[in-house]
Amino acid sequence: MSKIILIFGFLVIYASITRTHAADTLTANQIIRSNETIVSPLQTFELGFFNPANSTNHYVGIWYKNISTKTVVWVANRNTPLTHTSGELILTRQGVLLLRDAINGSLVWSSSNSSARNPIGRLLDTGNFIIHEEGDNTSQEDPIWQSFDFLTDTLLPGMKHGKNLVTGNDRHLVSWKSASDPASGEFSDWIDTRGYPQLIIRQGGELMFRGGPWNGLWFTGTPNLKENGFFNFNFVLNKKEIYFQYNLVDPSALIRLVLQPSGRSEGLIWINSKQQWSLYTAPQIDRCDQYAVCGPFGLCNINNSPFCSCLPGFEPTSPSQWKNTDWSQGCRHKIPLDCNSGEGFKKYSNLKLPDTQESWYNQTMTLVECEKMCKSNCSCTAYTNSNISGTGSGCLLWFGALLDIRTFAENGDTLYIRLSASELDSIENNSSSSSSAGRRVRVIVPVAFVVTVILISICLFYRFHRKKQRKRQGTPENELGRDLENKSGDEDLELPLFGLSTLLKATNNFSINNKLGEGGFGPVYKGVLENEQVIAVKRLAKTSTQGPHEFKNEVILISKLQHRNLVKLLGCCIERDEKMLVYEYLSNKGLDSFIFDNTRSELLDWSARYSIINGIARGLLYLHQDSRLRIIHRDLKVSNILLDTDMNPKISDFGMARMFGGNQIEANTNRVVGTYGYMAPEYAGEGIFSIKSDVYSFGVLVLEIVCGKKNISFVNKEHNNNLIGHAWGLYNEDKSLQLVDKCLVESMNVSQIQRSIHVGLLCVQRYPEDRPNMTSVIMMLGSEAPLPAPKEPGFYIGQTKKDAMESSSSYGTSSNNELTITMLNGR
Ligand SMILES: *[C@@H]1O[C@H](CO)[C@@H](O)[C@H](O)[C@H]1NC(C)=O
Ligand SMILES: *[C@@H]1O[C@H](CO)[C@@H](O)[C@H](O)[C@H]1NC(C)=O
Ligand SMILES: *[C@@H]1O[C@H](CO)[C@@H](O)[C@H](O)[C@H]1NC(C)=O
Ligand SMILES: *[C@@H]1O[C@H](CO)[C@@H](O)[C@H](O)[C@H]1NC(C)=O
Ligand SMILES: *[C@@H]1O[C@H](CO)[C@@H](O)[C@H](O)[C@H]1NC(C)=O
Ligand SMILES: *[C@@H]1O[C@H](CO)[C@@H](O)[C@H](O)[C@H]1NC(C)=O
Ligand SMILES: *[C@@H]1O[C@H](CO)[C@@H](O)[C@H](O)[C@H]1NC(C)=O
Ligand SMILES: *[C@@H]1O[C@H](CO)[C@@H](O)[C@H](O)[C@H]1NC(C)=O
Ligand SMILES: *[C@@H]1O[C@H](CO)[C@@H](O)[C@H](O)[C@H]1NC(C)=O
Ligand SMILES: *[C@@H]1O[C@H](CO)[C@@H](O)[C@H](O)[C@H]1NC(C)=O
Ligand SMILES: *[C@@H]1O[C@H](CO)[C@@H](O)[C@H](O)[C@H]1NC(C)=O
Repeated sequence: MSKIILIFGFLVIYASITRTHAADTLTANQIIRSNETIVSPLQTFELGFFNPANSTNHYVGIWYKNISTKTVVWVANRNTPLTHTSGELILTRQGVLLLRDAINGSLVWSSSNSSARNPIGRLLDTGNFIIHEEGDNTSQEDPIWQSFDFLTDTLLPGMKHGKNLVTGNDRHLVSWKSASDPASGEFSDWIDTRGYPQLIIRQGGELMFRGGPWNGLWFTGTPNLKENGFFNFNFVLNKKEIYFQYNLVDPSALIRLVLQPSGRSEGLIWINSKQQWSLYTAPQIDRCDQYAVCGPFGLCNINNSPFCSCLPGFEPTSPSQWKNTDWSQGCRHKIPLDCNSGEGFKKYSNLKLPDTQESWYNQTMTLVECEKMCKSNCSCTAYTNSNISGTGSGCLLWFGALLDIRTFAENGDTLYIRLSASELDSIENNSSSSSSAGRRVRVIVPVAFVVTVILISICLFYRFHRKKQRKRQGTPENELGRDLENKSGDEDLELPLFGLSTLLKATNNFSINNKLGEGGFGPVYKGVLENEQVIAVKRLAKTSTQGPHEFKNEVILISKLQHRNLVKLLGCCIERDEKMLVYEYLSNKGLDSFIFDNTRSELLDWSARYSIINGIARGLLYLHQDSRLRIIHRDLKVSNILLDTDMNPKISDFGMARMFGGNQIEANTNRVVGTYGYMAPEYAGEGIFSIKSDVYSFGVLVLEIVCGKKNISFVNKEHNNNLIGHAWGLYNEDKSLQLVDKCLVESMNVSQIQRSIHVGLLCVQRYPEDRPNMTSVIMMLGSEAPLPAPKEPGFYIGQTKKDAMESSSSYGTSSNNELTITMLNGR
């Protein structure tokens, strides 16, 4: 009996020993040897000894527990390897983590000193190993020691990249020497806190690449690295800390940012289906990213040859060297500054902000105060907002030469550079826009900017509240908008005005045979001009009370929107009480005539449909974000997508809601512009619209393209659901593929289809704030990263809100449920 108890007791002890080793904690005086590890509670990370491929050295590190490729994210003794397997990792009673050479007992590595009483080590699922006082839960928040304070080459979600101003700890990344040697390599990645904080990568002691200052949304030198559906950014700048951090929206995704031995900083994501890391994002490194390649006041533009030039108002310091492509001397002011009161600032757009090592900042000042401040100090050469988020705030000043400026095609920053009075005059005299006196304009610019911002805010405010305020007379939206645009807009317009007689002739007197379609805004006719160009003419309904001048302004604005996925507006006609728009003519019919047609649907295989989905997304992104007008379409639907001869999708009728703005809607107070089946619930129900209501329509469109059925006329015998509801049901049963149009079965790409349905469902979520924006949609469609799970979709079932439906039908002309307002289909 006693023997049995003894054996049993032994087994218990044995079991408890092995279990400790698989646990997530390390207790004081416990020893970890090379065949033992600690594993985080959810088995995400593992800490122990490892030996890199092709190396005989041994290290203590942390790696992902549950993936097939051993990926080390942290190394303790990177510069003091063990050459054999007899190492011992111990947590001392004082709370210090030690790595000992077990053969001669020498200390290989240790964490910093501390004076703990009852320390315990714990590996968290974030990949952080912390040492804290046992039994004191609060000390876990602020541990005695944590591996996250000592970065190696990997920035994990939640890690702080930057400086603790209290302790002086400057958390930066240092690359490995090579894939098989974790020793400190030559590249390091810092948040440089001299001047306004900026991201830099050094090679040895030299500044090699500047990610630049944080502008509130991204690092100015890496505009392609923006927040999206997968992670959000956090940049903290206060008296105690300066750091950058990213966090995952879906914590189960495995994402890491690594400074590779080559010096390239890469965002990598684990793709389970492929069992490998795939590149998610990396700053686009080109020759303009080489630090200060064009010298002081030089401007690098990768699309130019040579790519260096001087900023406007500047000239090469040494013309002969400059000619020989030696740009190191850079540029100087054409007219030297002498700090007289006439000096002012010229606005430069779409730039990477210059090196901020010698800069000054104040986070609460406004742009106007900022200009004043810069102007009052003779050595101040440039200024801008330090934070462009929202309406812009904060002040950032530069002193001396401006270094390392480049241009970006989009998402660049704005910089105001000091120039002499005469330089400003001549630059302004040369540009077509200015006729007023240079000096006065200069002083007015920042004020005008602020006023503009305020006016735009008012416009947006009204857009969102218009429904509620519709009883009032006239919407200020368009009048204000027009006033604004008139100031800047009138000079460079080249919108052809077509004469009424020309169009009458082209369309055969608007013959019924030429009619392509009819929508709420009026009928569309096909026409042929005398030069044989084929056009589509939209003859707008006469109900608009908009005056011809306002109308023209609106058309000019819309005509400036140019994108390959938008139908091109060629011109307009305003004569007598006629208003007409002239578009390019697209020979293929609308997308609806393909996907909803039993025979023609076979003409669009999956790859064609997938590129159509992507094209529409890009066109919509342009309307929402990239164009300077920020257009909300409000009537996106399959029949408003036209196809050119190469089956490229083109969005039509964008800007109609805007053009018909103010009065038209006032006159029809109950009218919600849009089409039943595509309208987001908050828009159909309460008239609240935003870019997110367009995203909703886009989601419906995607689902329709995938399954070849109309949302509205979809009938499922079992569920009595519309298409969205049906898709949602199948998605939850993991049977999304049942949605797919029969004619796609042969051409389908399962993962693209599943991804499209998933994105479609994300877009039709009930609450606008849950829906992604179009930037995220494009990223989601284009990557293999995991997607957040969609929440329940929002349905707008017409019967429940009769009034809104009827009101929209006041313009509808088509017979069935599709209450269209506009149509521009080749028929
Ligand atoms: C680890 O190795 C030691 C000898 O080196 C051995 O005594 C011990 O049982 C091993 N532990 C495990 C869990 O394999
Ligand atoms: C290890 O060496 C082999 C053969 O030389 C090479 O193919 C492999 O890439 C190396 N692995 C690493 C991590 O360097
Ligand atoms: C480990 O990964 C596999 C798939 O690779 C997954 O099925 C399993 O749930 C994961 N285990 C844990 C503990 O995360
Ligand atoms: C212990 O052994 C290592 C090699 O295994 C050697 O580098 C180190 O100098 C030795 N330390 C002492 C104190 O002998
Ligand atoms: C810890 O402190 C003691 C005495 O203050 C010092 O001798 C020792 O070098 C320190 N150790 C470390 C790792 O900082
Ligand atoms: C600390 O956390 C543990 C479990 O998380 C809990 O049981 C305990 O009550 C907590 N102690 C304090 C002092 O909050
Ligand atoms: C930038 O401005 C936004 C909005 O005004 C604010 O929420 C954010 O905290 C600011 N960022 C920094 C780094 O100051
Ligand atoms: C920043 O500017 C504001 C307003 O001009 C001022 O009140 C504040 O003291 C300034 N802060 C610093 C640190 O200079
Ligand atoms: C101008 O700014 C520089 C740098 O901040 C400063 O050293 C200098 O005192 C300032 N000069 C005046 C007149 O304010
Ligand atoms: C003004 O433009 C003309 C011709 O475009 C150019 O030759 C001249 O250098 C410009 N002047 C300035 C001051 O930029
Ligand atoms: C620019 O135009 C203003 C008046 O429009 C004129 O006074 C000034 O001399 C011009 N400057 C140059 C450099 O031509």
